[in-house]
Amino acid sequence: MNFEGRDVISIKDFSKEEILYILEVAQKMVPIAEGKEKSDLLSNYIMASLFFEPSTRTRLSFETAMKRLGGMVIGFSQPGTTSIQKGETLADTIRTAESYCDVIVMRHPNEGSARLAAEFASVPIINGGDGAGHHPTQCLLDLFTIKREKGSIEKNRIALVGDLKYGRTVHSLAYALALFGVDMMFVSPPELQMPKEVVEECREMGVDVTISNKLDNLDEIDVLYVTRIQKERFPDPEEYSRVAGSYRIDLKTLENAKEDLIVMHPLPRVDEISSEVDKTKHAAYFRQTFNGVPVRMALIALVLGEVK
Ligand code: CP
Repeated sequence: MNFEGRDVISIKDFSKEEILYILEVAQKMVPIAEGKEKSDLLSNYIMASLFFEPSTRTRLSFETAMKRLGGMVIGFSQPGTTSIQKGETLADTIRTAESYCDVIVMRHPNEGSARLAAEFASVPIINGGDGAGHHPTQCLLDLFTIKREKGSIEKNRIALVGDLKYGRTVHSLAYALALFGVDMMFVSPPELQMPKEVVEECREMGVDVTISNKLDNLDEIDVLYVTRIQKERFPDPEEYSRVAGSYRIDLKTLENAKEDLIVMHPLPRVDEISSEVDKTKHAAYFRQTFNGVPVRMALIALVLGEVK
């Protein structure tokens, strides 16, 4: 399988076999990600980390991934300090960055911006989130987490909860889980339901999808994937205030849960998971955060052709 020179824009750019291969490479990266083994696999390479929108996990885990593999990092996380402030276009910013680096990771508020950047760049572009569009590396680390925690992706019933309308991570994840034949429950306020086209696509792929605005039947769920209601994506602040705080996972919610249910969240959280859940055996979200490092190590090494 050859990933050299490929862009990573959407999870849909990858087949099930390719996804499984990325996860296999990521598993081998775990001891290096943990700092237990040293590597200079990418010591000749520079990654540009261009973050036009706030991020904690995606940016830091990409930078950690590159550094753990001996590579170097340039970039910005405050576009206001760059020539974008003087009116420089995305195309010119990308053309400039690519002349200094071997791979570009970018996050941008506009949907489609990563695909656009890939048209201008000759180095691989990895999408770290483009508005309400795609977040493929989050999707890969979510799949990796399910596989590590539960032993397989396939044999689980998964509930996606919260903002299913604007949440880019859940759109990609629903598609990927359908690719693996996983039945799903979509739980959201009526205003924030999963877009119809995502639901139809999953059903056409042959999986059973249940839609609800109530989080019940926890005794039938193996993975509870909770998302934040994203204030910044709402065009109308009143619409946000009507749905804010719709779901809160706390010890009481988990009373009827399966013993081995895991709670995942792409983070950041606001109030949708109570901190009292953090110490329970169900909380997988900080291990999920760590998993971003080996998965991103695998992706960078693959697109740079250093792992075949
Ligand atoms: N999950 C995620 O994308 O987190 P950040 O916004 O902090 O990068």
